[in-house]
Amino acid sequence: MKMKVVVIGTGHVGLVTCASMAAIGHDVVGVDADREKIEALHAGAMPFHEPSLAELVHEQTGARRLVFTGDAESATRAADVVFICVGTPPKSNGEANLIFVEEAARAVARHAEGRTLIVEKSTVPAGTAARMHRAIRLERGPDPELEVASNPEFLREGLAVADAMEPERILVGAEAPWAFEMLRELYDPLVRAGSRLIETDIATAELAKHACNAFLALKISYANALARVCERAGADVVAVAEVMGADPRIGRAFLDAGLGFGGSCFPKDLQAFGHLATALGYDFPLLREIERLNVEAVDAVLDKVREGLWNLHGKRIALLGLAFKPGTDDIRSSPPLELARRLMEEGARVVGYDPQAMANAKEELPDLGLAQDAYDALEGAHCAILATDWPEFADLDLGRMRGVMAAPLVVDGRNQFDPAVMAEAGFAYYPTGRTPVHPR
Ligand code: UDX
Repeated sequence: MKMKVVVIGTGHVGLVTCASMAAIGHDVVGVDADREKIEALHAGAMPFHEPSLAELVHEQTGARRLVFTGDAESATRAADVVFICVGTPPKSNGEANLIFVEEAARAVARHAEGRTLIVEKSTVPAGTAARMHRAIRLERGPDPELEVASNPEFLREGLAVADAMEPERILVGAEAPWAFEMLRELYDPLVRAGSRLIETDIATAELAKHACNAFLALKISYANALARVCERAGADVVAVAEVMGADPRIGRAFLDAGLGFGGSCFPKDLQAFGHLATALGYDFPLLREIERLNVEAVDAVLDKVREGLWNLHGKRIALLGLAFKPGTDDIRSSPPLELARRLMEEGARVVGYDPQAMANAKEELPDLGLAQDAYDALEGAHCAILATDWPEFADLDLGRMRGVMAAPLVVDGRNQFDPAVMAEAGFAYYPTGRTPVHPR
């Protein structure tokens, strides 16, 4: 059944939620307090790069199933379901700042009419829905027609539209039977298409999201720790990952050693999860260790650059990739940018190239040099670092690359090249967790 859906916050999660809810047939209003953003959305512009999102948004606005407004009040009045997709930025101690969540919940409590379900989609610590519930009771008084539910997103940047339209799982945590009923109806088209709906209590849904992200980050850090051991033992971390991945109990995904994880979720969620555990009286040092290994992953790449180049001062370094991963222009907590910062601190001249993230990177690191394309970045470089695994970098013409560089030295922070091919092409090549290649 068609429902009236309001999405508060049109950031990455919010905008993808708007488009996907409209695409499965609901009437959707996207709300944002930022007038400029709403005007841009009216004009058809996207506030960030996400493949296929602009097309889907245009299709749904064209069909009048999706509209955008700055007026939360009138949008909320008519809503059946209100998704809260506002930001939860970290405070200086790593705790999630939930003020925007609270404000959004209170606003809904003031304006909602009739049966309305407030659904938190922003990643929040367990216990947040209970706090929201109390806040809305204070705002409005007891009202069985206004309930809170949790429905964490599992969207990967760069694949967010596919993840929203064909999710493996849809997790909903609620209390009132009518809230579950509403969520079943809301997601019915996706469940009928094969997605698995998992229903839990609210605290479990909230916690499960942090548990998933921390575990994925753990797999990456485990692979990076293995890389350190492989480097010392003369073993190959890529082959080790293949062996591990052949066991379905382990799985191959997220065992790619390299520069480590970044982005808007893993670093922030690890901190927030650790903070929550501590606040609940449980020390969870494993979470801190995951972070430490992630810092060490950048150190390890830096060490290889030093080993290959000797002194960094005055050397030109081509940094291939600036985004925290391919398919996005997002540079939040980006390991390549952290690496650039460290290289520049040691006096290197860093020239970066990224298919999408250059403008964002320049804003963050004004001293970073930028190139028009990968070969332009490599021109005159004493060392190239592969920092983000954009597919186009794996297809670089190695002969041309060698020809334009001042010295044939490549440090591979994402294991994108084949060591045998690099040896054949005459490069000194330092992969991650595999034996380096030295030209004869
Ligand atoms: C993540 C989760 O995957 C998603 O389910 C959640 O909802 C939001 O957080 P995202 O931040 O888009 O999504 O990135 P993801 O694709 O998970 O990659 C995270 C980081 O880990 C990237 O920096 C990537 O380069 C790195 N990574 C990933 C590795 O270093 N090795 C791997 O094997 C996998």
